[in-house]
Amino acid sequence: MKKIAVLTSGGDAPGMNAAIRAVVRKARFHDMDVVGVYHGFEGLYKGHFELLDLGSVGGIIQRGGTMLYSARFPEFKEDEYQLKAIENLTAQGIEGLVVIGGDGSYRGAMQLTEKGFPCVGIPGTIDNDVSGTEYTIGFDSALNTVVECIDKIRDTATSHENTFVIEVMGRDAGDIALWAGLAAGAESVLIPEESYDIDEIVARLERGATRGKRHSIIIVAEGVMAGSELAKKLEEKTGVKIRVSVLGHIQRGGAPTARDRVIAGRLGARAVELLIEGQIGRAVGIRNHKIVDYELREAYENNHQADISLYTLSKELSI
Ligand code: ADP
Ligand code: F6P
Repeated sequence: MKKIAVLTSGGDAPGMNAAIRAVVRKARFHDMDVVGVYHGFEGLYKGHFELLDLGSVGGIIQRGGTMLYSARFPEFKEDEYQLKAIENLTAQGIEGLVVIGGDGSYRGAMQLTEKGFPCVGIPGTIDNDVSGTEYTIGFDSALNTVVECIDKIRDTATSHENTFVIEVMGRDAGDIALWAGLAAGAESVLIPEESYDIDEIVARLERGATRGKRHSIIIVAEGVMAGSELAKKLEEKTGVKIRVSVLGHIQRGGAPTARDRVIAGRLGARAVELLIEGQIGRAVGIRNHKIVDYELREAYENNHQADISLYTLSKELSI
């Protein structure tokens, strides 16, 4: 291949820039041209392309967001949009495409591959919900942001002897809530993968109060319910005022952690190698600290599994 393209799609994630940089630098190392596609699949359809040289990705490794912008573009599920995208790509002499995004974006990449245009996928989403890889780019950064926020909330919760419900992102996955719960020492964590018992949460709060605990932190993944809803349920049971904090999009911003930058570099470089080797319709990922690749389809046909042993552990440690 002499010319490839790269795009970012779905919710942005810290480390996407580092992945773009890795794709461009690795491809240039192999004397390939790289075209940046702006606004994800929407830009592919509209032909928003720009040649990226070595310098164009300088100074971005430490920046959150994505220099190529991102978009949700539901129209791309339709054949006519996909065919137009392929027409635009081939008109520019582009022979392969790297898609950085979550499992929705992988579906788009697979559609293009099945219609004859070679794609590979790099997992980029704060949700960590892509099946087949233990980590997605952005998860570690979002997790660190969440933990920093919870630590701050804990300070004021302690001073005022308050109970807080903190709502975190993750869509249908509980990874952010689970890992943040362990890292921040939350009293309870609610994730979509496990059913919850409101009486058990109340019992934990009461046990803590009896032991002289001055505050409580309950983390709820957005996929379970809104923080306000949970707070209402708890207030009804306890008669105590519950504060709610919805961390929201702050979780998607900020500089990527060193870990996300390194993962992005390794995955970006491997994605380019796959295109060079003619291995198409594949996704790159991480298992047991090693870079792996597997069929794009596996990533969205199988359900992502959160590590439930962490859930059990979090309950044991916050007894
Ligand atoms: P993520 O990639 O983070 O899971 P989305 O689910 O929003 O985020 O998907 C990102 C984009 O991928 C969508 O806006 C759409 O453009 C494209 N996409 C999602 N599902 C499909 C599909 N079934 N076929 C083609 N493109 C899709
Ligand atoms: O997929 C990333 C994510 O931040 C999810 O955690 C969240 O549910 C969703 O995107 C929010 O999307 P939007 O910014 O489009 O509201």
